[in-house]
Amino acid sequence: MEVGQPSAGAPEAALRAAERAMRSDKLGYWESGALKERIARHYLDWYGVEVEPKRVILTPGASGALLLAFAVLLDAGDLVAMGRPGYPAYRNVLNALGMQPVELPCGAESRFQPTAAMVEALDPAPAALIVASPANPTGTMLDRGELAALIDVCRRRSITLISDEIYHGITYGPTAVSALEIDPSAIIINSFSKYWCMTGWRLGWMIAPESLVERMNSYSGNIFLTPSALSQHAALAAMDADEELSRHLETYAANRRLVMDEFRRLGITDMAPADGAFYVYADVGHLTDDSLGFCKQLLADTGVAFNTGLDFDPVGGHRTIRISFAVSRAETAEAMKRFSAWLEAR
Ligand SMILES: Cc1ncc(COP(=O)(O)O)c(C=O)c1O
Repeated sequence: MEVGQPSAGAPEAALRAAERAMRSDKLGYWESGALKERIARHYLDWYGVEVEPKRVILTPGASGALLLAFAVLLDAGDLVAMGRPGYPAYRNVLNALGMQPVELPCGAESRFQPTAAMVEALDPAPAALIVASPANPTGTMLDRGELAALIDVCRRRSITLISDEIYHGITYGPTAVSALEIDPSAIIINSFSKYWCMTGWRLGWMIAPESLVERMNSYSGNIFLTPSALSQHAALAAMDADEELSRHLETYAANRRLVMDEFRRLGITDMAPADGAFYVYADVGHLTDDSLGFCKQLLADTGVAFNTGLDFDPVGGHRTIRISFAVSRAETAEAMKRFSAWLEAR
């Protein structure tokens, strides 16, 4: 329950499509026009937004899309704002590229999300802002008004908005709003890793404004050539597997309830709201101020792996842990049983 990936594999239809492709296709360097069209239709189906298929840039995972976005949109030395806690690769990849992450400390009062006021107060204005809703590690979401306010301040201050929408489709109340519904020029990042359960297939995408498509394609060709051909065949089939995928959502919802209920019973009550994604992010500061040591000991004693908050929040993460509940119901129940017994004996 440490790594953020569904324990279910790719949908059955994706596996069948991959098997067929291995026998019938040379699997050379390739970009699937059909997949770009299908992803464009996905924006109409899910968000009511029209996207021209050529604006879909296929990448090796959201990781590839983020790298591509940073390389094309930013220069060395540029400031890039993001919430803390947040996905650690934003900060690490920006640092590796000589760009400067600007972390906005976000607490429970803003549901662990950056606000328009925080971005307004930045001086100088950053070159870009990264948002993720639902977010990793907290699962919290921006509602339409909050996202619109962030987009508005970005527009006024010429800040490029990069919206990481990798957890869309995995929500427990209202569905997630795409930045594309509000701002046609937003940079959208997404992936087959989470909702479609295809982490190891390494396929994601970006929606770029038309004016940037040529540069994105040119950079992408140089950095990646193309994403995996086999994965593109599989992903096209996966996009019509909602029936199978919705069963995973039922499992996540049950696991989320189980983890949160059990945590409350154990006195771990300070948790982020977990509106979406498949994480519970909890403050265990009353139990330890060394969440890494806490998780290591738990793993050694019980075989249950939780994640320390340190990667997500280098400042306050020594008090927090993240639990990924994208595993089976039986595994979640077993993990909670072992964790409770361990904690109560401590
Ligand atoms: C918020 C967020 N963005 C991007 C990624 C990268 O995902 P991938 O490269 O598998 O698509 C992850 C993976 O956990 C993530 O949590």
